[in-house]
Amino acid sequence: LTQERYPVQRLPFSTVAEEDLAAFERIIPGRVITDPEELEASNVDWLRTVRGCSKVLLRPRTTEEVSHILRYCHERNLAVNPQGGNTGMVGGSVPVFDEIILSTALMNQVISFHSVSGILVCQAGCILEELSQYVEERDFIMPLDLGAKGSCHIGGNVATNAGGLRFLRYGSLRGTVLGLEVVLADGSVLNCLTSLRKDNTGYDLKQLFIGSEGTLGVITAVSIFCPPKPRAVNVAFLGCPGFAEVLQTFSTCKGMLGEILSAFEFMDAECMQLVGHHLGLASPVQESPFYVLIETSGSRAGHDAEKLTSFLEQVLGSGLVTDGTLATDQRRIKMLWALRERITEALSRDGCVYKYDVSLPVERIYDLVSDLRARLGPQAKHVVGYGHLGDGNLHLNVTAEAFSASLLGALEPYVYEWTAGQRGSVSAEHGLGFKKRDVLGYSKPPAALQLMQQLKALLDPKGILNPYKTLPARA
Ligand code: FAD
Ligand code: MLT
Ligand code: ZN
Repeated sequence: LTQERYPVQRLPFSTVAEEDLAAFERIIPGRVITDPEELEASNVDWLRTVRGCSKVLLRPRTTEEVSHILRYCHERNLAVNPQGGNTGMVGGSVPVFDEIILSTALMNQVISFHSVSGILVCQAGCILEELSQYVEERDFIMPLDLGAKGSCHIGGNVATNAGGLRFLRYGSLRGTVLGLEVVLADGSVLNCLTSLRKDNTGYDLKQLFIGSEGTLGVITAVSIFCPPKPRAVNVAFLGCPGFAEVLQTFSTCKGMLGEILSAFEFMDAECMQLVGHHLGLASPVQESPFYVLIETSGSRAGHDAEKLTSFLEQVLGSGLVTDGTLATDQRRIKMLWALRERITEALSRDGCVYKYDVSLPVERIYDLVSDLRARLGPQAKHVVGYGHLGDGNLHLNVTAEAFSASLLGALEPYVYEWTAGQRGSVSAEHGLGFKKRDVLGYSKPPAALQLMQQLKALLDPKGILNPYKTLPARA
C-alpha cells in the first residue's frame, strides 16, 4: 500500500538479526517485543493510511537504556523510528519499512514539579492528559491541549511542535519548553534539561529538536513551563451567517475580551453535519453556515461573565452572530469542546481522508475551502474547513468513499501552490513526517533546505533516525 501511493526505496540499513534481538534483550530485559500481533498497532498510524513492517518494538524505561539502544543501532547501522502515542497526522510515527520502533510508552515518570514557578520536568513518554491532571491537582495547567490528549506523549508533542487549542493564549512550545534531554543518533546524551525562563548562553540547541520529528535525536525528558490554572473558564458556542462575520466576530472578540481570550476555534456547517452523523453529537445552536467556539480563562468569574455578556449582546445585536450558547460548568464546557475536538474522529469515519493543515493570512483562510469545493465538485464526498482561526491555521479536509488518484491529482499540487501563493505554510502544526516531506520546498527556500540537510548529516551522519521522514527525498 505504502509503495503504491508513495514510491520510495529502502535505504541500505542492516536488517535485525537474532544476535541484535539478544543484544536488545540484554539492554532492556523483557521489553523487546517481536510478537506480530503486539507490533500491529505500532506499525500503523492513527489515520490508518501508512503501514510499516517492523519486526521489533523496544520499550526502554530510562535515558540510559535509550542511549545504549542507539549506540548499538548506530554501530550496527540499524534504522530507528522513535514513537510516542502514535497520534501523528503525517505518517512520521510509524516505520516505512522495517525500522526498529523505539517507543517511549514506559518512560512515563514525572521527575519534578515546582509549585512556585510552575515548571514541570518529566520523561518524554508521559501522556499529555495525565500531565494535565497532575498539574491541575496543583493548581496549574499544561500550556498545550489537543484532541489527542488521551494518547499523545509530551515527547511526541515536542517532537512535532504541536500547536493545538491553547496556542492562542500560551503560544508555541518553542516558548514554553524550557529544556530538553535528548539522546543523539550515536547514543550520546545531550542534557539541556534546564528550568530557566531566561538563558542566553550560546545557541539554543533545544530548538533544533522541537519540531524535528524524531530525525535529529530522541527526546527523553522535557522541562516545561505551566501557567496557573484559571479560576474562571467560560465557553461560548456561536453560529455565524458567513465567513466575513466569523472574521468580524474574531476582531470584536479580541477588542472586547482581549486579556481573557484563551481560544478562538471555528468549524463549518459540513463539520457539524459530520460530528452529528458519525458521532451522534447534536448542535447546541441553530443550524448555521459557520460555528465559532470561544473560550475565556480568567481569575474572576463575575468579571469574565460580565465581559462575555456584553460581547454576546454586541455580536448578536449587530447580526455577526445569529445564535449562541454559553457554558460555565465543566460538564457543558466539555460537551461544547467535543463538537470541535472530535471533528478529526468524525472525518476518519467518513471514508478516505485527504488532510491539509495550512497557515494562511486569516482573511483568506476560507477562500481555499470554497475554491476547492468548486474545483472538486462531486468527486469529493465532503470538503470541510475547521481549525485554529485565532492562529491563522486552517484544517482543510476532503473525504471520498475510497482512495482515488484522480482526486489526489486535483488536490495536489493545487493546495500547496495556492498556499505558497499566499506565502502560507504547507504544514502549520502537524509537521511533514513521511507524507509531506516532499512539499517542504513550497514554504522554505532552497538555502534553508540545504542547511537542514547539513544539520541532519551533522547530527545523524548514518541517517538512522527516522529515515524517509521530514526532509525531501532529493536534496
Ligand atoms: P507520535 O505520533 O508517536 O510521533 C509523532 C512524530 O514525533 C514522529 O515523527 C515520531 O518519530 C516523533 N517522536 C515521537 N516521540 C518522540 C521522541 N520522544 N523523540 C523524538 N521524536 C519523537 N496536532 C497539533 O499540532 N494540534 C492539534 O490540535 C492536534 N489535534 C489532534 C487531534 C487528534 C484527534 C489526533 C489523532 C491528532 C492530533 N494532532 C494535533 C496530531 C498529533 O496528536 C500531534 O502531532 C502529537 O503531538 C503527536 O504526539 P505523539 O506522542 O502521538 O507522537
Ligand atoms: C485539530 O485541530 O483538530 C487537529 O489538528 C487534528 C486535525 O487536523 O484533524
Ligand atoms: Zn489542529
